[in-house]
Amino acid sequence: MKMIFKSHLLLFLPVCILSLAACNQPAKQSSTSTMTDSTTQATLPAAKGFEQTIDGKQAHYYILKNKNGVQASFTNYGAHLVGLLVPDKAGKLTDVVVGFDSIAGYKTSLSAYYGATIGRYGNRIAKGHFVLDGRRYDLFINNKPNTLHGGQKGFNDVVWDTKQVSDTAITFSYLSKDGEEGYPGNLDCKVTFELTKDNAIKISYEATTDKNTIVNLTNHSYFNLNGAGSGTILDHIVQMDASNYTPIDATSIPTGKIEPVAGTPFDFTKPATIGSRINDNNEQLKNGTGYDHNFVLDKHDLTTPIATATGDKSGIEMQVFTTEPGLQFYSGNFMKGGNTMHGGAKDELRTAFAMETQHYPDSPNKPQFPSTELKPGETYKTVTIYKFSAK
Ligand code: GLA
Repeated sequence: MKMIFKSHLLLFLPVCILSLAACNQPAKQSSTSTMTDSTTQATLPAAKGFEQTIDGKQAHYYILKNKNGVQASFTNYGAHLVGLLVPDKAGKLTDVVVGFDSIAGYKTSLSAYYGATIGRYGNRIAKGHFVLDGRRYDLFINNKPNTLHGGQKGFNDVVWDTKQVSDTAITFSYLSKDGEEGYPGNLDCKVTFELTKDNAIKISYEATTDKNTIVNLTNHSYFNLNGAGSGTILDHIVQMDASNYTPIDATSIPTGKIEPVAGTPFDFTKPATIGSRINDNNEQLKNGTGYDHNFVLDKHDLTTPIATATGDKSGIEMQVFTTEPGLQFYSGNFMKGGNTMHGGAKDELRTAFAMETQHYPDSPNKPQFPSTELKPGETYKTVTIYKFSAK
């Protein structure tokens, strides 16, 4: 049976299950069904809030489920990862991705990029312009004085096509037109989310262009490994295989230098809690209002995790693997409690963190950084894996 359901099926599914339980089972037996732990286990948002026409295109809601009971839900609006249920150390399903119950929630918090696919350029481009092949391109300045995460209407705010679905994989595609948001070239993008047998979300990005352009795609999930809405992430333990990072100026643009983390609060080469040094008197922490920096990965070939984070209460561990050279580690510094998330909690300060795998911010203006250029005939291909276990 296909484990992926379009929203209208999902709407009817609970009704069907309830009717089956009512007709075929004595009431007491319903407690042995899948509903047993429904009061204690986390749930995914319902489909209802995601069925909507936006810019003339239909948005839907999708759920992937593997044989271990791990579930991930998505909407093709912004190719968002909406929720992710994984077992904690006691086997209790825990939603480790902070998300909304509806597209309206995502729309009203566009600047936070909850769970979104980010493009055409993840993170900042200084002062909203870059030069490519001798020509200057101007972008929309949405994060003064810079462009952040694509511009005014990034890939997080468009409805993607859903080209391929299976029980554990879904592909979203989007054609970003030549000149959209100021970027050159028709960029044909695909992002595939796969829920693997070993409880990982594998994200594969692909893009091609018909003109020289720049591209830097990422996913902006906000993780709380103790469970969405369970408080701050300051006691989460983090380790990153990054001996260097790219310091930033007061507008969060990399200075262009690559500096060692050794002896600074940015040294996560050995496990440390997110909160242990976050309030240190350190200029870089001030510039980022906490951690909001690109870590230069020592290795990035999918063979070993480049980062590990553990929820101190749940025992849920997330390992990150990527082909990308950088990891933007963001400690939820701009979360202000203004949004009500799925589960009812507000998005209070530092109640989630992001690990955005990508090329370094402002690379188009920093020739010393790995290039983000894409030429006709080439295929942009990157893979990132978030793998979950508990102990
Ligand atoms: C990225 C940026 C942060 C912030 C968040 C979204 O992580 O680096 O500065 O904009 O996105 O709020």
